[in-house]
Amino acid sequence: MDQLKRQAAARALEEVRDGMQLGLGTGSTAKHFVELLGERVATGLKVIGVPTSETTRADAMRCGVPLTTLDEIDHLDMTVDGADEIDPDFNLIKGGGGALLREKIVAAASDRMIVIADDTKWVPTLGKFPLPIEVIPFGLGATRRAIEKAFAVCGVSGQMAVRKAKDGHVFVTDGGHWIVDAQLGCIVDPPGLATALSAIPGVVEHGLFIGLASSAVLAGGEGIRVIE
Ligand code: 5RP
Repeated sequence: MDQLKRQAAARALEEVRDGMQLGLGTGSTAKHFVELLGERVATGLKVIGVPTSETTRADAMRCGVPLTTLDEIDHLDMTVDGADEIDPDFNLIKGGGGALLREKIVAAASDRMIVIADDTKWVPTLGKFPLPIEVIPFGLGATRRAIEKAFAVCGVSGQMAVRKAKDGHVFVTDGGHWIVDAQLGCIVDPPGLATALSAIPGVVEHGLFIGLASSAVLAGGEGIRVIE
């Protein structure tokens, strides 16, 4: 599986041109991209990156990829990031690694977003992977009830759980928020659910990425598929 992820990352690297300003995703697949990009930078490629998490910032620095921020540049040419699920309309579930907020800000600031993944992430309908929802800890009970109402309006339901870190404590995002993971099974209307969740005050962001990805590089046993 890790080899497939690296192959997808290597294919996306072919889209990188000298001088590009790049969004750098988070997760095990995006990490391969950062490592391969670092190898190209070491041999003279000139690019600059905006990391989508503190983990990716550390990886990029270790690999020698020059970094900047969205305050210092006015746009990104391309973002390369992984995903937890991708549907045929390029709707995504992201946030399995907890970086969905910065990932969405960076993707939205990019001219293009390429999703890199092993082909198990390509699904007919989103929802088997629990949907991450980043929330403010204050008033979480009220926020959860509002989320449940939004689910009902959008024809979905499922258990929600506050994400825990490996040490058993509540997982805290780079922005200092918590994540609620919702087991929905099948999301019939991803754009509708995205709009409903975005309207809830205690929801900082959610893992539905709608209209952001423009292509997917999927690596499987039979090779690489680029879907546009
Ligand atoms: C992190 C993400 C990741 O892109 C997603 O979880 C996929 O990760 P991986 O490449 O490790 O399977 O959204 O917030």
